[in-house]
Amino acid sequence: MIAVCPGSFDPVTWGHLDIVRRAARLFGEVVVAVGDNQNKSYLFAAPQRVELARQVTAGIAGVRVEPMAGLLADFCRRIGDCVIVKGVRFASDFDYELQMAHVNGAIGEVETVLLPASREYGTISSTFVRDVARHGGDVSAFVPPAVAQAVRRKIGEESMDVR
Ligand code: PNS
Repeated sequence: MIAVCPGSFDPVTWGHLDIVRRAARLFGEVVVAVGDNQNKSYLFAAPQRVELARQVTAGIAGVRVEPMAGLLADFCRRIGDCVIVKGVRFASDFDYELQMAHVNGAIGEVETVLLPASREYGTISSTFVRDVARHGGDVSAFVPPAVAQAVRRKIGEESMDVR
């Protein structure tokens, strides 16, 4: 059984890595599916999000990272014998994940396994990482060093564009 860990990973955080690591321990094989929604505006374009996720998961055995276009249920069908694995931090995550699990189960007959976020990573979010970085704050407590560096560079490029 393969675990599919889907997300935007904009950018990948210690919280994501914790879930990927635990999914690898539980299932042996993990596909990290990096989504690309045309209606969303991302800090990092899809190829950069995939590249960063590859860099930071390189040391975890059994993990590969793939871009995902279209429906997660279709992606899972192509992967084969798999379950979706997602992390849940607080009640609002659960409400959202429950809906997604029901949709994916209905259209793809794929099961979803929800893992409670670990205590130390329970409130990290990519949204706050982007916000802290855009206001000049240090994000190194929330993301691996390579990601923090990429975020700093990206925010620097953005501020050059504004000028
Ligand atoms: O990290 P995110 O932003 O919560 O990840 C969202 C993601 C990529 C998991 C979700 O948007 C997704 O599954 N996108 C694929 C499109 C799809 O299948 N939509 C219907 C399922 S609810």
